[in-house]
Amino acid sequence: MAINRRQFIQASASSLAATSVVACGGNDDVEIDTSLPVGPYNAMSTAEEVTQGIDLTGKTALVTGCNSGIGYETMRVLALRGAHVFGTGRTLEKAQQACASVEGKTTPLALELSDFDSCVACARAFAAQSNSLDMLIPNAGIGSFTDFELINGIEKIFVVNYLGHVVLTMNLLPQVQAADRGRIVHVGSRMGYMSAPEEGIDFDNLRGEAEFDAFEAYGRSKLANALFSLKLSRMLDPTKTTSNVVHPGFVDSNIGRNADGIVGFFYNTVANILKKDVDEGAATQVYVATNPLLEGVSGAYFEDCNPVKINTANHVFDVALADRLWSETQAMLGNYIQVQMPS
Ligand SMILES: NC(=O)c1ccc[n+]([C@@H]2O[C@H](COP(=O)([O-])OP(=O)(O)OC[C@H]3O[C@@H](n4cnc5c(N)ncnc54)[C@H](OP(=O)(O)O)[C@@H]3O)[C@@H](O)[C@H]2O)c1
Repeated sequence: MAINRRQFIQASASSLAATSVVACGGNDDVEIDTSLPVGPYNAMSTAEEVTQGIDLTGKTALVTGCNSGIGYETMRVLALRGAHVFGTGRTLEKAQQACASVEGKTTPLALELSDFDSCVACARAFAAQSNSLDMLIPNAGIGSFTDFELINGIEKIFVVNYLGHVVLTMNLLPQVQAADRGRIVHVGSRMGYMSAPEEGIDFDNLRGEAEFDAFEAYGRSKLANALFSLKLSRMLDPTKTTSNVVHPGFVDSNIGRNADGIVGFFYNTVANILKKDVDEGAATQVYVATNPLLEGVSGAYFEDCNPVKINTANHVFDVALADRLWSETQAMLGNYIQVQMPS
């Protein structure tokens, strides 16, 4: 895939920014939001560490993208702590293989996010086996090393990372609400404020109208994850169900391994020393899904296991943009989402 200079600089910049997070446990772009509960964990914490002493017996979780990277580790640790984890793969075979390889109670489900019928079917398959869902972690995703493609007329990264998960989440909402204190933990990225278009979501470019910039497209999709989390948190207020979004960190996984050209070289060599391992990469979402301290916390954004405020220009907490994205999303998804106002 051809890349331009801007993409290379962005890749380098985000990796360098990740360095400061990993090495120093902080960076200038964000600061811990002390108005929210803050635990003892940081960039070096692992998913096992953040769940030490937490018994998830009797709880259910659904993790998308369970066969690889951060999703696999998330499923593994939640199951290790006693949860019944439903893990999704793009095929049932992939999910079965992953589920069979971890200790604890797991159930494989098929989910292809670019196929909205598959998203609805996945939610129905879950509902056929469980009445309630304590932890929904829409984790699967494709990265910024993705070529331009339209799926049903809409840009592919936006479809896979955002729209497919909206269909899944909205169709699982009754089960999440049936849980005692259901938590939805969206997996976003710092790229949602580092490489999204200046206006946040460029609604006039969702169908490939302008020149394709894969880094911007990825940033847009991850910002959309964050805005959906924000919108859901407001729709769910004042119920006991919460919605938050996390950045896992710069993590060694398959998402960038297949990149080619100079970015691929950079990603697979120099950047290796900057990356978190998946046990650290899964920590933030596992922490937000399980920690008792966060009961009732909703609409927040987390990095390195802490709620953070972003000090640079961003749209992550932009309520007006979240409202607009939600109405455009409803128009795009039509009958795939039946919005029932939470009670
Ligand atoms: N790694 C990082 O540095 C980083 C940084 C920020 C955010 N994130 C986010 O973390 C999440 C997990 O990524 P990862 O790093 O663990 O990457 P990964 O190892 O590549 O895992 C991605 C998972 O998503 C699945 N997936 C891809 N396309 C799909 C589709 N169309 N339908 C259903 N599932 C699909 C993959 O399935 P297959 O294996 O079958 O393709 C895989 O299970 C993503 O949302 C990513 O954006 C990662």
